[in-house]
Amino acid sequence: MYPLSAGLYAPRNRWYVAARSSEVSRAPLERFILNEPVVFYRTEAGEPVALAGRCPHRGYPLGRSRIEGDAVICGYHGLRFEADGRCSHIPSQAIIPPNCRVKAYAVVELWDWIWIWPGEAETADLARLPDHQALGLTDPAWIKRPPLYWQVEGRYQLLNDNLLDLSHLTILHADTIGGGDVAGTEERHEEGEGWVRSLRWIPKATVTDWVRKSRGVEGEVDREIMLTFIAPGFHHGHDRYFPAGSDPVKDAPMLDIRIFHAVTPATLTQCHYFASSAVDPATYALSARFPPDPASAIRIFTEDVEAIGEIERLLGAVGEFQELPLRSDVHALRGRRMLENMILAEKPADAGALRSVS
Ligand code: FES
Ligand SMILES: [Fe+2]
Repeated sequence: MYPLSAGLYAPRNRWYVAARSSEVSRAPLERFILNEPVVFYRTEAGEPVALAGRCPHRGYPLGRSRIEGDAVICGYHGLRFEADGRCSHIPSQAIIPPNCRVKAYAVVELWDWIWIWPGEAETADLARLPDHQALGLTDPAWIKRPPLYWQVEGRYQLLNDNLLDLSHLTILHADTIGGGDVAGTEERHEEGEGWVRSLRWIPKATVTDWVRKSRGVEGEVDREIMLTFIAPGFHHGHDRYFPAGSDPVKDAPMLDIRIFHAVTPATLTQCHYFASSAVDPATYALSARFPPDPASAIRIFTEDVEAIGEIERLLGAVGEFQELPLRSDVHALRGRRMLENMILAEKPADAGALRSVS
């Protein structure tokens, strides 16, 4: 489905961020993942559980039901489902049919996130988790901002596309992290197995008033922007400012901000957006001297969320359209193709990945 090719939605045999750790508790949390309702909760021992969120009896949402011990009790007629998805009790009969169960998803809790594998749980492959340590996102010396979450009223690839094409910084984020020269700066593209990377080096960058005020940047600066997309929905990168004339390989930046974003399909036309950032101690010290107005810092994200919602609004009202590709789309289109190939590489038996959506 647009903006991917007809019939392609999302790969199932990959990890997606489903929730922030703090969101999953002893109370049920309903969240749609790849167009399926899922109920999340914690066992008494604190382990996260993800079960199919629709009761197989009459379809009542388990996300609106009750947790008892390690099980969820359907709020309609009381079927009890254990953490492995097995039904262990039916109030109205003694015999439990063997097919009375719900799918139990593979979940992993790592780096403040609850990750879910929408494919069959036994195929879950930990080697496919983006390793935050290897990405430099777990450096204890760095100061991490609390993770943020939005439910976006737009299909997930619109948000992936947004993060794959940073030329929008100049316009959409003109008042915050923009900078008139991002769009016009040549973008370098790198790629490998399951990832693509965009790099920009902007000598004597224009710096918005917001960055100067909130980050304490003075004088002429060079700016480096890097963002790596690890399909199907994880982006990490950095935004670094150097004194003008610096060598980004040898010289230390004055500001070093790492950013990570996770994009997860919710329904066909909605997605989950998780974001967080971390700064090095020097950047943190500067930010502490010039604290950013929290509302404007959040606006950097909501500007994207709102733009995606506007595009989805038109898609819903008047349908799909033929895009006009520009030179600045080359990197994003490579990212899309990589994702499409990932979907196509899944066996047709993984019906959810190739469900007939157009
Ligand atoms: S709908 Fe769940 S027990 Fe009837
Ligand atoms: Fe943006």
